Amino acid sequence: MRKIRIFDTTLRDGEQSAGINLNVDEKLMIARQLARLNVDVIEAGFAIASPGDFAGIQAIAREVRGVTVCSLARAVKGDIDRAWEALREAENPLIHTFIATSDIHMKYKLKKDPDQVVAMAVEAVKYARSLCPNVEFSAEDATRSDWDFLCRIFGEVIKAGATVINIPDTVGYAIPSEFGKMIRYIKENTPGIDKVLVSVHCHNDLGMAVSNSLAAVENGADQVECTINGLGERAGNAALEEIVMAIKTRAEHFRAETRVHTEQIYRSSVLVSTLTGKPVQHNKAIVGANAFAHESGIHQDGILKNRMTYEIMTPESIGLSQSQLVLGKHSGRHAVKNRLEEMGYNLSEAEIERTYQRFIELADKKKEVTDSDLEALVRGQVVDTTELYVLDYLHVSTGNSTIPTATVRLKKDEELIQEASCGDGPIDAIYKAIDRIVQIPVELAEYNIKAVTSGQDALGEVVVKVKQNGNAYVGRGVSTDIIEASTLAYIHALNKVIQNLKIKSAS
Ligand code: KIV
Ligand code: ZN
Repeated sequence: MRKIRIFDTTLRDGEQSAGINLNVDEKLMIARQLARLNVDVIEAGFAIASPGDFAGIQAIAREVRGVTVCSLARAVKGDIDRAWEALREAENPLIHTFIATSDIHMKYKLKKDPDQVVAMAVEAVKYARSLCPNVEFSAEDATRSDWDFLCRIFGEVIKAGATVINIPDTVGYAIPSEFGKMIRYIKENTPGIDKVLVSVHCHNDLGMAVSNSLAAVENGADQVECTINGLGERAGNAALEEIVMAIKTRAEHFRAETRVHTEQIYRSSVLVSTLTGKPVQHNKAIVGANAFAHESGIHQDGILKNRMTYEIMTPESIGLSQSQLVLGKHSGRHAVKNRLEEMGYNLSEAEIERTYQRFIELADKKKEVTDSDLEALVRGQVVDTTELYVLDYLHVSTGNSTIPTATVRLKKDEELIQEASCGDGPIDAIYKAIDRIVQIPVELAEYNIKAVTSGQDALGEVVVKVKQNGNAYVGRGVSTDIIEASTLAYIHALNKVIQNLKIKSAS
């Protein structure tokens, strides 16, 4: 079995995609989960891009162990210095430097000829290697580049000390049979290629990122770059969960395996979706809500007789619990703690206590608390790092012939602040009342609501995105009452805005 390395770029290419803006704490939470998932490399950001990117990479490099931590850098000294500064405390750092190699990029974007591009790449790799033992070189827009030019530039950067060469399908242009041939050609015609790892990085513009990556694996690629839930620029990157489960499910075909602990896949997907505010489509392979749901009678009958009739992998293999166990208001702290451990959550005592307090409140309203409810409670407390404003009282009056009106009282430290407002609907009225209290102008950019479980007493989960001064902040709220969940989500987002403004004014 060949080992295929999984290079996760959720925190770099994923975070770079429109509408995603994670703070340092959120990046750390995702990196810790990626370490539990056991990926080989975490690309933690693009150090020179912003102070937030730099701080995120540095925090991950300092804390997260057992995995390579990487920063992106253009093929220029300033970028490489900044990447190294962020990475230097990592257990196993990797500088990832890149330059475009297609005619269109060299001519119009870089305004350089091919010889100049080769010289820049060689200089960048040599410099990066003088700082860091692991250096990856990417030929941006490789799939629209001349194959012989790619072999030339890769040969030169290998001589200069690159330890990984990466072949990106930057604009998602490739098709699997052609991409597979290209990987084989590069492997057969690049001097010194057997000394380095060959990586691929595919975008999903034509919906073929995963297929292209797998075609590359069939043709000798050693590493696949991918993201949780397929996040990434434009239509996204190859989805990690699809690559990993395809290799696992069809191991005899690929004759390959990854080190990924697949039981952590579902949890990773939920965490990334929660923190980025990007919902996962229901029919998404592996992690979508319907990925293991069997609706038709014939299928259900088959599943009951033998699950393998219609399931090529088990829900348990990605960490989806099939437990029928339900907890209720008589379940004690110990039962809740045990169940969370069985579900694979490794929480601190304080986190367990906070989840338990929420569990008691929920069990009071809901007869049975399922695993999905518990997951939602854990997600709720995971993101509640800063509670500057806390909901103390909420009253809404609404109807088809009444003007929706809300009264909201928030607690800030020991102070209680109350405001009322009318609105187009009850949520609008609440948000306007909260705006009056908090007095920081924000724009509500997104509002999403979903039921966590089925039934009349299901938990409702609301995710909002607010924008303040060009930055986006995601807030979440969970409750059996969707009006309350909406209120909590908005307060959560505003707390993040305030926290960020405080950090900015302190720096
Ligand atoms: O898509 C791309 O080409 C990239 C490179 C920087 C690897 O993200
Ligand atoms: Zn990319």
